[in-house]
Amino acid sequence: MQPGVNEPMNNPQSRLQALKNRRQSRPMWDSTMAAASAPEKQFLTPKREDTMRPPTSVNALRRGLLALAVSAAFVPAAFAEGPIVIKFSHVVASDTPKGKAAEFFARRAGELTKGRVKVEVYLNSQLYKDKEEIEALQLGSVQMLAPSLSKFAHLGVKEFEAFDLPFIFNDYNDLHAVTSGPVGRKLLQKLESRGITGLAYWDNGFKVMSANKPLKSVSDYKGLRMRIQPSKVLDAQMRAVGALPQVLAFSETYQALQTRVVDGTENPPSNLYTQKMHEVQKHLSTTNHGYLGYAVVVNKKFWDGLPGNIRAALTQAMTEATQVANDTAFQDNLEALNRIKASGKSTVHEPTMEERRQLMRAMLPVHQQMATRIGAQTIAEIYQATGFKPLPALPRPAP
Ligand code: SIN
Repeated sequence: MQPGVNEPMNNPQSRLQALKNRRQSRPMWDSTMAAASAPEKQFLTPKREDTMRPPTSVNALRRGLLALAVSAAFVPAAFAEGPIVIKFSHVVASDTPKGKAAEFFARRAGELTKGRVKVEVYLNSQLYKDKEEIEALQLGSVQMLAPSLSKFAHLGVKEFEAFDLPFIFNDYNDLHAVTSGPVGRKLLQKLESRGITGLAYWDNGFKVMSANKPLKSVSDYKGLRMRIQPSKVLDAQMRAVGALPQVLAFSETYQALQTRVVDGTENPPSNLYTQKMHEVQKHLSTTNHGYLGYAVVVNKKFWDGLPGNIRAALTQAMTEATQVANDTAFQDNLEALNRIKASGKSTVHEPTMEERRQLMRAMLPVHQQMATRIGAQTIAEIYQATGFKPLPALPRPAP
């Protein structure tokens, strides 16, 4: 019996397993839907955006891209005639910092190269989900991505998980001290041996927590199944507050929340709002406990094979697009939070100083726990760049 197809799915664990199995073994649109019973169909039904995508043509496009990839992607002669096409795949909506910056880059790349380069942006996991898109980049079936920093450990570059350490950045200034300094550059260089060139860091923002119950004290997280990105640091962070972390692709999160496969999640407001997650989460807490941002990366062979003047123009377009991402990120997140509040679908809680301290006390030991995985040196360099004090003397509540 195939789990997830014929098994009863009335308990969250088997539904989660079903979701994972389906993710690994087959695309969303296949005979599973035809074979499923009515309650299963509700679980298997793609979320609204997904239903608007023509499945067969997308799958055919995917297959076509993969088939063409090895033969066409690295052939410099292909640059001689016609525009150079850059397929830029990402997993979020267009009205997010990443979505806007990607569109801007596409436009400027065309302008600055006088039409020699055509950037095609595929948003909302249209082409590939989180893990698949990195593999597709390495294969050359897409040329450019901007995965969140939490997704690079999959390539064996675990140092990127330092960005996930809870409370390591107080604000965007701290973050930029790292991303635009030697630590940021060193991390991007580590991607080269994986066939990937890092071009820039793009901001998103600081994460809030959401669930169907108020999240005020640390004990509120106990036993909650929380969707996380594939990062061991995020796993440790959720366990530190007694939650049960569940790794899921971004594109699967709305559905998993809606069907209660998971109880809650964390993300900056812009992602929560544009994916409508707030509509299926009754409570949201503006904990700002961690950061989520991106590295824009390109297939190295493709990039190195570009004519020098084209590469220079694209570098300029990327510099400008980075400015767009980083200039809009704060405002976008603020607006998204206000829209969530105005929607009335989710109650937004602003943690008190004491609640925040409690969360810090619970989560900060994760820095120490993860030092061996991330590298104590990388963590120390980030502390130095930001002025972070490893365990600040936090006032303890009276016994
Ligand atoms: C993204 O912003 O690219 C997705 C983040 C996530 O997977 O939560």
